[in-house]
Amino acid sequence: MEEKEIYKGLAGVPVDYTAISKVNPETNSLLYRGYPVQELAAHCSFEEVAWLLWYGELPTEEELAAFTAEERKGRALSPTLKGIIDSLPKSAHPMDVVRTAVSVIGANDPETETNTEESNLAKSKRLFAALPAVVAYDQRRRHGLDVVEPREDLDYSQNFLWMSFGEEAAPEVVDAFRVSMVLYAEHSFNASTFTARVIASTTSDLYSAVTGAIGALKGALHGGANEAVMHTFAEIGSAENVKPWLDDALAQKKKIMGFGHRVYKNGDSRVPTMQAAMERMIEHYGRQDMLDLYRTMAEEFVARKGIHPNLDYPAGPTYHLMGFDTPTFTPLFVASRVTGWTAHIMEQNAANALIRPLSVYNGVDQRVVPVRVNS
Ligand code: ACO
Repeated sequence: MEEKEIYKGLAGVPVDYTAISKVNPETNSLLYRGYPVQELAAHCSFEEVAWLLWYGELPTEEELAAFTAEERKGRALSPTLKGIIDSLPKSAHPMDVVRTAVSVIGANDPETETNTEESNLAKSKRLFAALPAVVAYDQRRRHGLDVVEPREDLDYSQNFLWMSFGEEAAPEVVDAFRVSMVLYAEHSFNASTFTARVIASTTSDLYSAVTGAIGALKGALHGGANEAVMHTFAEIGSAENVKPWLDDALAQKKKIMGFGHRVYKNGDSRVPTMQAAMERMIEHYGRQDMLDLYRTMAEEFVARKGIHPNLDYPAGPTYHLMGFDTPTFTPLFVASRVTGWTAHIMEQNAANALIRPLSVYNGVDQRVVPVRVNS
């Protein structure tokens, strides 16, 4: 039998071209459509970045005005969707709720089966507008709080925080939220994006591809890590407990969530930008204790293992300080990454080849089915 090489986890294997983002681990840089992500985080709204990912160029003033007006009108959830979310147990993980919500939106969209670029752009914008309301609605219902309806006078980030907490957030908080959305939006062929592209490659619909991507993002080795970081912080408690906690965790060969990356081995290019926004918020909330724990853990882990923090490490505490409950962190990632996923689904459709790799069989050799005497 011919021996085939196995590329476990597809590590280091390029599977297609993309013009959406460029990750360069040597220079620790990440470009969306040619623009450094740090510059986009410094100068652009999340709405502009979403447009950039879909269309390849930043919007003109007129395009942005039309898009934001449409987005503001598309925020409210239908009574059908609210009813289905209400029928789910409050113990359901919010990622399961978001995944279900995308399925429901797809099942109710008369354009679901229309797989043209124009129709898929419209669907991408519909999901972009509706997902914040889904995430906010679910968090409030789980805590037995009244629903806060969207406000058309607020931008995407302001309104997301408004619907989540029922009050207008301080500028530092809105800014940190916007930065997190920009940084989470796109990262080439990560596991969830690849999942979306696999589904799109069968010529399935955009909503099915996004639903599958949400399932892939849920795991702790991918998006679920931002939630896991906060569980770790809760276990450790404060900076002075970091060393004994790490001694114990590493002795048990535990993976420390929020550290390490398949592509970046010398540090995640998004971390300094997210960390700076987090630090501005820590100052706003007067939570030096959180910063001490954050820094001590990072310094100690890097010193011991040489493995650096990824974006989930500063994003977890950022969302915690804003007041989101821990299970809502990964759905926030969904609300952002839906822009990258949908851009990739459209790119896959534009030059499609069914994604169907090979496997090497290592089970038992061919054998004969035993024929029972009485059969
Ligand atoms: N804690 C402890 N050890 C680690 C960690 C970690 N966070 N990350 C890597 N290692 C170790 C592994 O145990 C392994 O050691 P070994 O060679 O002695 O067995 C070695 O480093 C290589 O790790 P792999 O898991 O094989 O590397 P891979 O490239 O597959 O992993 C991954 C990348 C999955 C992200 C890994 O670093 C990890 O599990 N990190 C924690 C989860 C996490 O934070 N995920 C978020 C990813 S970023 C994002 O989604 C925004």
